[in-house]
Amino acid sequence: MIKIYAPASIGNVGVGFDILGAAITPINGDLLGDCITIKRSEKFQLFNKGAFSNQLPENHKQNIAWKCWSKFCNVVKKNIPVSILLEKNLPIGSGLGSSACSVVATLVAINEIFNSPLNSKELLLLMGEVEGEISGSIHYDNVAPSYFGGLQLILEDTHIISQTIPNFKNWLWIVAWPGIKLSTAEARKILPKKYTKDVCVKNSRYLAGFIHASYTQQSDLAARSMKDFIAEPYRSKLLPNFFENKKQVKKLGAISCGISGSGPTIFAISDNIKIAKKISLWLEQNYLQNKTGFVYICYIDTKGVRKIG
Ligand code: HSE
Repeated sequence: MIKIYAPASIGNVGVGFDILGAAITPINGDLLGDCITIKRSEKFQLFNKGAFSNQLPENHKQNIAWKCWSKFCNVVKKNIPVSILLEKNLPIGSGLGSSACSVVATLVAINEIFNSPLNSKELLLLMGEVEGEISGSIHYDNVAPSYFGGLQLILEDTHIISQTIPNFKNWLWIVAWPGIKLSTAEARKILPKKYTKDVCVKNSRYLAGFIHASYTQQSDLAARSMKDFIAEPYRSKLLPNFFENKKQVKKLGAISCGISGSGPTIFAISDNIKIAKKISLWLEQNYLQNKTGFVYICYIDTKGVRKIG
């Protein structure tokens, strides 16, 4: 029996739509991600538990774990029945890479049980494919960080899909999920099909600035570079009072604030724990829409998917 954990992630990281993703882990030691326990079995079996398992489809053929298993069997041309326990600790449609967590943990667990027929690149490609079917189009900015950990830069290269880039060790990432659902597919549909040259150039400059600042460890420049011209102008209206919350969080001292993935989670950054706690409290009192919502102060999770238990 194997138990695998995959961490939550912040897609886009503000400035890198479909290009940057960061894996995160709460500083209080909580697990913010999904777990898969797997063993060989007579026939395929799937059990769900965890705080958000009530959001999973009843028909197990619609469950991500089943999709992963059936795809994996097709790819390796082998059918090994397994029994899977999915611990759904992340809310679905939260903007924290919830589906990616399930995909990454499940495919890594299945690969282990099948004696590792796929290498890491083949596994990542498969993760992107499954994630693409769920969210409407292939993007790696949640699966790659959840798999490798750290801050990932998604490339447009036939050989290398994603690379780890340096992050700022003293940055605290405050994530606030308001307790409401937003489908990634819907949040992608509302984006324009085309952007003007002006926006493309600006976006490239800010993203290049962020990458440069990361490599040269210029924290202020990196934080100032985290501007989103691609998604935030269109998605902000889907989030509760996004701009007002962003303004207040910045007033409290956040060096950056943006939408996590496709939302409705927002993230804020501070390198000072006292400020991070103030931001966290403010978001708890103002951004959460119901009792299921949560706020966590996180570090970058540098380990990515791992065996636990
Ligand atoms: N890059 C993706 C998007 C992330 O913004 O649609 C989804 O979590």
